[in-house]
Amino acid sequence: MSEKPWDGRFSEKTDTSVEAFTSSIQVDKRLYLHDIQGSAVHCKMLAKQSIIQEEDADDILEGLGKVRMEIERGEFHFDDSLEDIHMHIERSLADKITKAAHKLHTARSRNDQVAVDTRLYLKDSVKEILGQLLALRQVFVDLAKQHLDVILPGYTHLQRAQPVLFSHHMMAYYEMFTRDFERFSDGLKRIDVNPLGSAALAGTTYPIDRDYTTRELGFAKASANSIDAVSDRDYMMEFLSAAGICMVHFSRISEELILWSSAEFQFIELPDSFATGSSIMPQKKNPDVPELVRGKTGRVFGNMIALFTIMKSLPLAYNRDMQEDKEPLFDTIDTLKACIDIYTKMMPKVVIRKDRMLEATTTGYLNATELADYLVGKGIPFREAHSCSGKAVSYAIGKGKELQDLELDEMKLFSKRIESDLFDFLGTRAMVDRRKSFGGTATENVKHAIAAAEEQLKTETTGTGI
Ligand code: ARG
Repeated sequence: MSEKPWDGRFSEKTDTSVEAFTSSIQVDKRLYLHDIQGSAVHCKMLAKQSIIQEEDADDILEGLGKVRMEIERGEFHFDDSLEDIHMHIERSLADKITKAAHKLHTARSRNDQVAVDTRLYLKDSVKEILGQLLALRQVFVDLAKQHLDVILPGYTHLQRAQPVLFSHHMMAYYEMFTRDFERFSDGLKRIDVNPLGSAALAGTTYPIDRDYTTRELGFAKASANSIDAVSDRDYMMEFLSAAGICMVHFSRISEELILWSSAEFQFIELPDSFATGSSIMPQKKNPDVPELVRGKTGRVFGNMIALFTIMKSLPLAYNRDMQEDKEPLFDTIDTLKACIDIYTKMMPKVVIRKDRMLEATTTGYLNATELADYLVGKGIPFREAHSCSGKAVSYAIGKGKELQDLELDEMKLFSKRIESDLFDFLGTRAMVDRRKSFGGTATENVKHAIAAAEEQLKTETTGTGI
């Protein structure tokens, strides 16, 4: 047997620097389980179709079991000269059951093999991520439920705009992570396709049974075009894009937690167990977890761009460039899982400073729109009402007071229609609870949104089998 499976047509040994340069084993060894799974099913199919003999198939299956055990016990030797996980497993099999091992690669190529492995691996990873996202979404619903009495300023342009329920703000993140959940779960459809049997690129002359391998590997369907099947990495690009969007959401909440925990805001306090100190400034408590999540967003974006760039302009079908797909893929899976996990653990422990949030809603004229709305209620056209309210704000600024602190007589300077009922109208809670339009921040609405989310989470938990 020659040293490399393909070295029959070569007259020189591969240079060791080339072996090191082309090897992907350190990265793709994590595909071992899915590679063995793919090989086992392929082997059974070959026997079923009488392409190889039953006894050979039995030997191969037994040998694959031994390889798996060796890897899992940490006894397996990985070596750059064997390039990748596929060749490592094949070589190890050959060392164990010389004769039959060489029949396993009939009617397939590493090109369809690697696509099978990464699809199986990603399918499992996405299912784990979906399970994690369910737990994270539940955390946001729980926070919303627990803090229905908390009001904070809603911001636009990072300027205080209008008061909103803290619960409404948490449910905004619930919506974002729900969309992420939907994107990942929709992407599963495109991952769940069996390329096995496409061989190098053109299919094979052997009488293989692709329906059988599709079923046995748990794929939803077989790929329809062998050229596409070995050159398609859309399912990875889609996953990396969805992960990028999910990280945008993490990065945004991280930014908010960082701001909110600053001395300037003091809206929240991060739990001591999720913060770190400074080696020089004893008073400091740093928001390292949200900062790192915000920072890790960069590498997830980078991974997406890396794969897009690798795939761009590649002629059909397989090209070795595509071996570079795994590092970004695995890095994003690991990073995303770590971020979801840490947020699921940290968020329930964040201390909500209700007093500070409320205080921030009562200064800064957040009720100026209310005054205009009040006047509209008294029959004044909105534009005119807006202008009256603007004048009142300007007057109040001059007096160093808030609108609600002006006397009724002072208020009447801006409109004769203003009565003492205005002051209830300008109250923070009343302002929030009047925003009953669908999707608005009124307590009543938010309670409905929470109930709907709980229902949704229940059906998704059972529906997806997660
Ligand atoms: N290690 C390779 C990869 O990850 C497997 C496919 C190799 N195919 C080939 N024709 N060299 O892409």
